[in-house]
Amino acid sequence: MYAREIEADLTEVLVTEAQIQEKLAELARRIEADYEGREILLVGVLKGAVMVMADLARELRPHVRTDWMAVSSYGAGTESSGVVRILKDLDTDLTGRHVLIVEDIIDSGLTLSWLLANLKSRGTASVEICALLRKPDAARVDVTVKYLGFDIPNQFVVGYGLDYAERYRNLRDVAILAPHIYS
Ligand code: XMP
Ligand code: MG
Repeated sequence: MYAREIEADLTEVLVTEAQIQEKLAELARRIEADYEGREILLVGVLKGAVMVMADLARELRPHVRTDWMAVSSYGAGTESSGVVRILKDLDTDLTGRHVLIVEDIIDSGLTLSWLLANLKSRGTASVEICALLRKPDAARVDVTVKYLGFDIPNQFVVGYGLDYAERYRNLRDVAILAPHIYS
């Protein structure tokens, strides 16, 4: 399915392209019903959320606006520290807007918990979260995700926007990265 050198890097496909599309359609119908008559501003978190944003936005039938933020977690190693730096801020004034944050994955929850507080402080009418994936066993803070795709085991995954060292984002499925790649 993927090039042989990519297949060798993956342990298993966790969520298939078809499962992702089916779930996004289901979430889109809920979002449309919940926001009826109110315009949503979808805020995508670069770069991982690019694929979710592209597919979710096209699944939504009413007008939506889209904007992007890039953030990075400070701190040593691969673990999120909770101290977040804005690398690219929104172009949109959030006053009175209904913001729906679009994320690829919630791991510790530290990044989203910071982002939620940051966006709420800008005069928004509402802020909710849509995340494709969540690792419940990695949670360090409680983040309420109104629109969730899939709970997954606490393993490093790639594909559908998720990377390891900027690779694998172009895979159509979400797959577990073989530990020999990163250890
Ligand atoms: P926290 O821990 O703050 O971090 O919830 C969420 C961010 O960490 C990245 N992340 C991953 N990226 N595969 C990835 O490619 C993973 O399994 C993974 N877990 C966490 C991701 O950037 C996410 O936004
Ligand atoms: Mg991300």
